[in-house]
Amino acid sequence: LPSHFPAGDVVLLDCGDDNTALVHLHGATLLSWKVNGEEILFVSEKAVFDGKKAIRGGIPIVFPNFGPWKLGPQHGFGRIKRWSLAIPPTKDKHGTVIAAISLEDDEETRRMWNYKFRLVYTLELQATSFTMNLSIHNTDIKAFDFTTLLHSYIRTPDILNTSVTGLSGLVYVDKLKKNKKSTELREKVFMDENYDRIYLECPKDLIVSHVGCGKHNLFIKTFNLPDIVIWNPWEEKAKEMSDFGDDEYKYMICVEGGMVSSPVTVNGGKQFECSQTFIVTPAD
Ligand code: BG6
Repeated sequence: LPSHFPAGDVVLLDCGDDNTALVHLHGATLLSWKVNGEEILFVSEKAVFDGKKAIRGGIPIVFPNFGPWKLGPQHGFGRIKRWSLAIPPTKDKHGTVIAAISLEDDEETRRMWNYKFRLVYTLELQATSFTMNLSIHNTDIKAFDFTTLLHSYIRTPDILNTSVTGLSGLVYVDKLKKNKKSTELREKVFMDENYDRIYLECPKDLIVSHVGCGKHNLFIKTFNLPDIVIWNPWEEKAKEMSDFGDDEYKYMICVEGGMVSSPVTVNGGKQFECSQTFIVTPAD
């Protein structure tokens, strides 16, 4: 990560003992989550911080559309708009540090997607856990539909030694095989090639093994995010991405909690809440 960001571009949550989270207001992109000084998230060394392009890595927010979009850019505008600080980091009596950032519709978003909305992204940091809660308020009088996802890039020292547990028996859509549906049979999903899959109706708990420096596992708990996208570009596709190093695919895995396989409808004046909690534990 660059050693310095212009004042006002990032928000730091710090609960002591080198347990921190850093979020960039561009795209509400979480750039860093450190547990006792150990970085758990992956950001590409080639990530572009120009306030325009989506930041390659961390956890950008996909909203209001996952994937190619006929009304606007791939993965929607949530990850390329500038969000505002709504609640500065504050420590509560249990030692949890809470902060919130928000995004409202403006002329640019309405030109693509003609609705009024307010997104509130609340972050709650504790020593070994981190909750990201996204609430999507429809401030319009008409209903809207959207898909959303927390596009989480998780760091690993060795992709070949990292697996995802909790997907066995689930149906997945393989985006690399014309959206063919198959059933996952493996208890531990390892990968050794380009993956781009949407696992459907996932359990609320998953484990990603050997994250960070490799000595920790990551529990992912989701709420209202029933789909899990598993993505790694692998060698060939990595080379095609200008903002991703040629060999960086070895050091990341995207495990992304989402509501993407079918859109959510929110009526005027109503809201939708979803969240993802990360918990770090020692690896076996
Ligand atoms: C994943 C999608 O979530 O994001 C992939 O499933 C996509 O299809 C990947 O390639 C990265 O997208 P982008 O727009 O950040 O390059």
